[in-house]
Amino acid sequence: MTRCLKVDPEHPEPAVMAEAAAVIRGGGLVAFPTETVYGLGANALDAQAVASIFRAKERPFYDPLIVHLADATQLSSVVAEVPDVARELVVEFWPGPLTLVLPRGPQVPDEVTAGGNTVAVRVPAHAVARALIAAAGVPIAAPSANRFGRVSPTCADHVMADLSGRIDLVLDGGATQVGVESTVLSLCSDIPTILRPGGIARESLERLLGSVDFRDSLGTEGETLVSPGTTVKHYAPRAKTTLYRGEREAVLARIRRDVLDYVTAGVTVGVLVAEEDLAMLTDLPAVYRSVGSITSMEQIARQLFASLRSLDASGVTVILARDFGPSGLGLAIRDRLTRAAAGDVIVVMETSG
Ligand code: TXA
Ligand code: MG
Repeated sequence: MTRCLKVDPEHPEPAVMAEAAAVIRGGGLVAFPTETVYGLGANALDAQAVASIFRAKERPFYDPLIVHLADATQLSSVVAEVPDVARELVVEFWPGPLTLVLPRGPQVPDEVTAGGNTVAVRVPAHAVARALIAAAGVPIAAPSANRFGRVSPTCADHVMADLSGRIDLVLDGGATQVGVESTVLSLCSDIPTILRPGGIARESLERLLGSVDFRDSLGTEGETLVSPGTTVKHYAPRAKTTLYRGEREAVLARIRRDVLDYVTAGVTVGVLVAEEDLAMLTDLPAVYRSVGSITSMEQIARQLFASLRSLDASGVTVILARDFGPSGLGLAIRDRLTRAAAGDVIVVMETSG
């Protein structure tokens, strides 16, 4: 049985945290809120506990986990060395949604790193996450608390829907703030490389580091993706999803046309767009979800996964989603939608005349 305990997201009750910490120290699994998405945590230094994360999620062992720390002083317990550039990043972005891939320390079990010689680490900016790690007294390995390949959870209900009966405890601290996962940045290559775009924008990293490498999640034929977990078929809703990229008017016109085609064919359609787009579409019979206003990428990121889950729950057969451009959080949103679409991306050309 999985227990679910409410916890104050800003001032977590010490008694609740002590109970959750005891589960972690006993080798159990606790789902907890971070500022990005809910994580599924285990003692990062306990190989068996970490192995049980993979079983609960049905996640393949070749996909390594992020180690979560209470603060940066814990870094030396899990990494072999901290390069100067990491120190600068830590000062600027921790606690926060930036994960650093660094040379692995000897205490970290193979289960965490998938046998590799690097380890991913971050200090989350959420009072519950940090209180849990501090109370447990050990670093906590935690992937997103969803079944492997599914959309990441941004509230406790999402966690329960995927993992109820498979884990010991869920700490319910309400909806998460950022809504997309952390940016994964490798400092183990010549140039700092974004392995997964996320809550810290590429532009913010470039302001500090100069140029930062990033390969589009679609990849090009023949290129191998560096982050093992970032296969294109990921973050997938059940409904067959298509992503539309291009200039807004042209994209919405194309979505309109495709909705009509589906409806004519008797297919139930879900549409994921911005609030401002709804007026151009809602006369057609489809299930609409607004992810927020185009004036706030933060809001769109925050609501993205819940919107995908809710469209799925509505029972639609296909989901048509629009892109929100590559700047700021737009890059992470594009990445997740591209994966949700399993690479089914239509680049809409502007209509001439
Ligand atoms: O915001 C987040 O990052 C959330 C919260 C819970 O912290 N966690 C999360 O974990 O999204 P997960 O396991 O769903 O995604 C971790 C990503 C995967 O793409 C994995 O392949 C990559 O980080 N990763 C982990 N360790 C790595 C390593 N040593 N080298 C390269 N990539 C690594
Ligand atoms: Mg995940």
